[in-house]
Amino acid sequence: MQDLIKKLAEAWGPSGFEHHVRELIRAEVQDLADDIRVDALGNLICRMGTVKKGGLRVMLAAHMDEIGVLVSHVDRQGYLRFSNLGASHGTTLLGNRVKFENGVIGTIGVEERWSQRTRVPNLDKYFIDVSTGNDTSSVGIGDAAIFWRTLDERGDRLIAKSLDDRVGCAILIETMRKMKKNKSPHEMIFVFTAQEEVGRRGAMTAGYGVFPDFALAVDVVPAGDEPKGVELAVELGQGMVIKVMDTHHVVPPAIKNLLVETAQHERIPYQLEILTLGSTDASVIQLAQSGVPSGAVGVPCRYVHTPSETVDIKDVRACVDLLVAVLSKPAAGIKPE
Ligand code: ZN
Ligand code: CO
Repeated sequence: MQDLIKKLAEAWGPSGFEHHVRELIRAEVQDLADDIRVDALGNLICRMGTVKKGGLRVMLAAHMDEIGVLVSHVDRQGYLRFSNLGASHGTTLLGNRVKFENGVIGTIGVEERWSQRTRVPNLDKYFIDVSTGNDTSSVGIGDAAIFWRTLDERGDRLIAKSLDDRVGCAILIETMRKMKKNKSPHEMIFVFTAQEEVGRRGAMTAGYGVFPDFALAVDVVPAGDEPKGVELAVELGQGMVIKVMDTHHVVPPAIKNLLVETAQHERIPYQLEILTLGSTDASVIQLAQSGVPSGAVGVPCRYVHTPSETVDIKDVRACVDLLVAVLSKPAAGIKPE
């Protein structure tokens, strides 16, 4: 699975520009899905199987996009000024590299004297250097870029940009591979969504269009084991994560219980998430049309929204195992009568 995660994490796809990631994923799932379509927002919607006795129409969602920047203007000295695509933080900008779609690498600098660099300036004080030394430039206003870094491994840990949420995409692909061989009573709709980082926009249209009986989002969860980090009882390497609540989503108890009981029955290590900052695609899918019973699962991730997001492969595998177990049996009590 590491090779798949590396391929996806090193791909280029800021919010609204997911086309390269979408084509990579399409190539992986072409032979697994019964049919594949792309909606107006750019979501990749892959259907597998049909509803059988005790089965539901189940939607699983993971977002393809990653945080990035978009060039807003070029200043008098030729430096690119930018807006953010999704939430990037001043503390991780200076000295970082961005990559444009055409491969051009930019270096992020800041308007501060060395002696003053003890605080975090506003985004408008940062700039991107794309000078070539020979007066040529192939990027400019309107061009988007990602924070660029290759994937590294350290034992069971994977370190890369955009594990939020390419690791979720990899989990869905691996689940599709396993479900190709497993029997399922469900119609399974695997959706690789667009524009999550700018407000879960892809999931809104996908949720509305698919309007499933039951939905699960798969995303990273900020780990609570960084020193003085987020107050959350979720640790790297301690299992996959089952959401109970976040800022925009109270998971129906029947869904939480189904996920917990399945994890216990299959002896899959799991942790419960109560997140007070942030949400997932599931928070908007639950509000599609007349409402969709929705939950969320994921993996703990350190340093979210930096180029060194870190996950543990054991948690990733546990998340696949749980999804496969849930999809392989009827899901009673989820759909309202
Ligand atoms: Zn995410
Ligand atoms: Co994110």
